[in-house]
Amino acid sequence: MQRVYCMVFVLIMCISFAFAADNLSKNWSSDDDTLPEVLPKKMRDKSDDEIQKAVFQAYENQLKVISEYNGHMLDPESPYGFFKDEMPISNARTSNPQSDLIFYNNAIRGFIGHNKNSIIIKWVPNQVVTELGWKEMSVRGRYTFINSTYFDQGKYHVQLQDLKYLASTTLSENTESYPSTVPKSSISYKSVKVSFTGGLPEVLKISDSSNVKHFIEDIVFQQVADRVVRDTHNNITVAIRQVIKPYIIFKNDTDPNFPGTNGKLPSGSVGYTISNTVISGFANAEHKLKKITTKMATNIVTADLRITIHSLDGKFDFKLEESKPTIGKATFAVSRIDVNVSFNMLKPVECKAEVVVNQPNVKYGTKLSADIEKTLTNAFIDNVKIQLNTNICKALGQMIKPGK
Ligand SMILES: *[C@@H]1O[C@H](CO)[C@@H](O)[C@H](O)[C@H]1NC(C)=O
Ligand SMILES: *[C@@H]1O[C@H](CO)[C@@H](O)[C@H](O)[C@H]1NC(C)=O
Ligand SMILES: *[C@@H]1O[C@H](CO)[C@@H](O)[C@H](O)[C@H]1NC(C)=O
Ligand SMILES: *[C@@H]1O[C@H](CO)[C@@H](O)[C@H](O)[C@H]1NC(C)=O
Ligand SMILES: *[C@@H]1O[C@H](CO)[C@@H](O)[C@H](O)[C@H]1NC(C)=O
Ligand SMILES: *[C@@H]1O[C@H](CO)[C@@H](O)[C@H](O)[C@H]1NC(C)=O
Repeated sequence: MQRVYCMVFVLIMCISFAFAADNLSKNWSSDDDTLPEVLPKKMRDKSDDEIQKAVFQAYENQLKVISEYNGHMLDPESPYGFFKDEMPISNARTSNPQSDLIFYNNAIRGFIGHNKNSIIIKWVPNQVVTELGWKEMSVRGRYTFINSTYFDQGKYHVQLQDLKYLASTTLSENTESYPSTVPKSSISYKSVKVSFTGGLPEVLKISDSSNVKHFIEDIVFQQVADRVVRDTHNNITVAIRQVIKPYIIFKNDTDPNFPGTNGKLPSGSVGYTISNTVISGFANAEHKLKKITTKMATNIVTADLRITIHSLDGKFDFKLEESKPTIGKATFAVSRIDVNVSFNMLKPVECKAEVVVNQPNVKYGTKLSADIEKTLTNAFIDNVKIQLNTNICKALGQMIKPGK
């Protein structure tokens, strides 16, 4: 009895932990107002031309991100990134016409104590906005002060209140053009207090000490900004992957469950089935936006896309329902699939896809007559066309957000 209670308790713990972990891990969001299909509704008072341009830009950005993850969405998740609480700051000699103040053995602390950490994806203008907030951070180290009449040494302590990091990086090319540095102005704060163990007076207003101001606002903030942009990269990648997921038609390079088909041989009496179709190569796809056509008066924002998939291959099983059924396997290669899609972003049921399968080459593992091979090959190709035709339009219909 006790064991049962115990197990139930563990189960509840697990469930609540799963929820907590989920809340913790989801602090990213998509600014849905900037989605290509939502923009027309947000821009109702604008001309067709302006809407067209904005939608084109947003959709092109989105397609770049789709291309980046197409066929790899189901690969292992990228890991989260984590802050180390403390970071050293380089030695700094600050000087003004009257004095020098040297800071050394410096370290800033408090990175993990953030009270805000959010990532917002904006499809236009192709941006990821990252914001972090800390109630307090402190910098400690040693100092030497020198002027014409006074020499002082000791330890210092800088307390920064309400520190904020706000920076944006590009949404597409998150891997290849992620910055290694962001402006020091990405860091802002409300107030500062600096105390010294020697004889130097406390600094409560940054404008009272140009040496302290330079150290904090130029040197410390630049190093903090660069550290934060580096440390948040992994989480930004996780966020982008999650946000783009619903928009990716070919999530995996391989489709192990491609639907089968069946029919009758031209002779009319013998049925055939094609099953267990596996197709690989969906990662070799290019997605391009050809044009956007806008006629808001009739509720039309049509997107024309071209999708090209190169170098696919795979296998399927076939069966001929003869008195003694023939069962066999086939392998195939397709040099290219061309797809043209045209759909109304405001009413995605208005969708048309044209699919051409180029240079298919099917090899049968069982000896068959040329006519039967031709029938099976055509049935297979037609099925690929039909499935892609309906699935692409269906997928587009499901991913489009109706918008408010
Ligand atoms: C965590 O998420 C669950 C379900 O989404 C929600 O009910 C709960 O209020 C959230 N808890 C916190 C602390 O945000
Ligand atoms: C990354 O996300 C995880 C999970 O939400 C969070 O615990 C961690 O603090 C984040 N790291 C950074 C550097 O923001
Ligand atoms: C999570 O992100 C939202 C905005 O996306 C922000 O308003 C909120 O403060 C963030 N929460 C935390 C705990 O960082
Ligand atoms: C040197 O610095 C000390 C401490 O800030 C100050 O009291 C003194 O007036 C300064 N001397 C000169 C010549 O500026
Ligand atoms: C994804 O592709 C791999 C091979 O690349 C395959 O083994 C796996 O079953 C596929 N997963 C899904 C869910 O389609
Ligand atoms: C797609 O459109 C282009 C030009 O608009 C045309 O040349 C091509 O044949 C079309 N392809 C398909 C698969 O319909």
